[in-house]
Amino acid sequence: MTRAAVVGAGGAGAIHADAYSRLEELGVKLVGVCDVVPSKAKDLALKYGAKWYTDVNELLKDCRPDIVTVSTREHQHFEPVIAALEGGANVLCEKILAHKVDLARMMVETAEKRRLTLAVNYNYRHLPTVRWLAQELRSGRLGRARLITCNAHAFGWHHSIDILRYLTGSDPLSVSARLIEKEEERGYPWDYAGEMLYIPSRAATAAWTFPDDVQAVLSSTRGDLKDFVIHDITVVTDRARATIADMTTSNISGRLEVFGVVVPPEHPRCSLADAFHLSIRAVVESLQSGVPPPTSGWDGLAAMMMEAAVVESNASGGAVAVRPRIPP
Ligand SMILES: NC(=O)c1ccc[n+]([C@@H]2O[C@H](COP(=O)([O-])OP(=O)(O)OC[C@H]3O[C@@H](n4cnc5c(N)ncnc54)[C@H](O)[C@@H]3O)[C@@H](O)[C@H]2O)c1
Repeated sequence: MTRAAVVGAGGAGAIHADAYSRLEELGVKLVGVCDVVPSKAKDLALKYGAKWYTDVNELLKDCRPDIVTVSTREHQHFEPVIAALEGGANVLCEKILAHKVDLARMMVETAEKRRLTLAVNYNYRHLPTVRWLAQELRSGRLGRARLITCNAHAFGWHHSIDILRYLTGSDPLSVSARLIEKEEERGYPWDYAGEMLYIPSRAATAAWTFPDDVQAVLSSTRGDLKDFVIHDITVVTDRARATIADMTTSNISGRLEVFGVVVPPEHPRCSLADAFHLSIRAVVESLQSGVPPPTSGWDGLAAMMMEAAVVESNASGGAVAVRPRIPP
């Protein structure tokens, strides 16, 4: 049996708890839920017949979980992640791994020292359309990528950084970025670290150079529409032009359009919860079969380094090298 626990019983934590509870065929059991707000821990735990806690160390001692989701807000990830690793559990941490690069590095190093898995929930790369596009690029069937453009809602900004890493299979060499930031338009209160953009507000643009002369452009802004487009992604290759359009909150997997060489299959509609479920299942399967998770702590740290470079480029007004700072 794989014993699972959730720390942080808010919006994301509720989806993790539900996902674990649906993985019975993999022998997964949700054994504990922890939140500093007792009613939140209790309500979520009781829904799935799990035990509830307000202190992560109590949960660890009592439940002995194999995997712990940490779904507190970014600036609250560090303590529970370290506690879980020190307590002998593998961790699936919500993105982004931390709000400061140094803290993320300590999390990754702790996992390595303890020989435990630290995974990060970059669930958008598990969407059927995104997966298909990455696989077609990887196989060469779609040709060689030349230009990737991605327009992201502010809440999808971090996922678009991971999607770039996924589609290119690489880390960028450099970035040139421009941010128009309005604190009051960010709409997501948190302990802003300064080195991470976190949620773009008015407008963010970043032009990346990847190895093999692949260019990518990310743009992002925050809107308030109910059913908003999270991403629009286009990849132009030497043989085709593939777009994932209309990745909305009601169908986050969007719609594939390909001009050239390959006819894409029909993909099922996906809710945001479906994207979590696909990602969490993949992490559990990787743990059970002893292979690295789809997005490891190192991947989470590399994504943060890309983001830190965006902020640095904006401040300096010039291009900033990224690749040399990315960990192995
Ligand atoms: N992957 C995705 O698509 C996706 C979507 C939404 C949110 N998220 C991520 O999920 C995380 C949580 O976001 P949310 O919207 O669910 O936040 P939230 O505020 O709804 O929930 C966070 C919960 O953590 C609890 N908490 C804080 N410190 C704690 C501690 N030390 N121990 C136990 N509980 C503690 C809070 O009381 C709260 O209930 C963030 O990192 C966010 O970026 C990811």
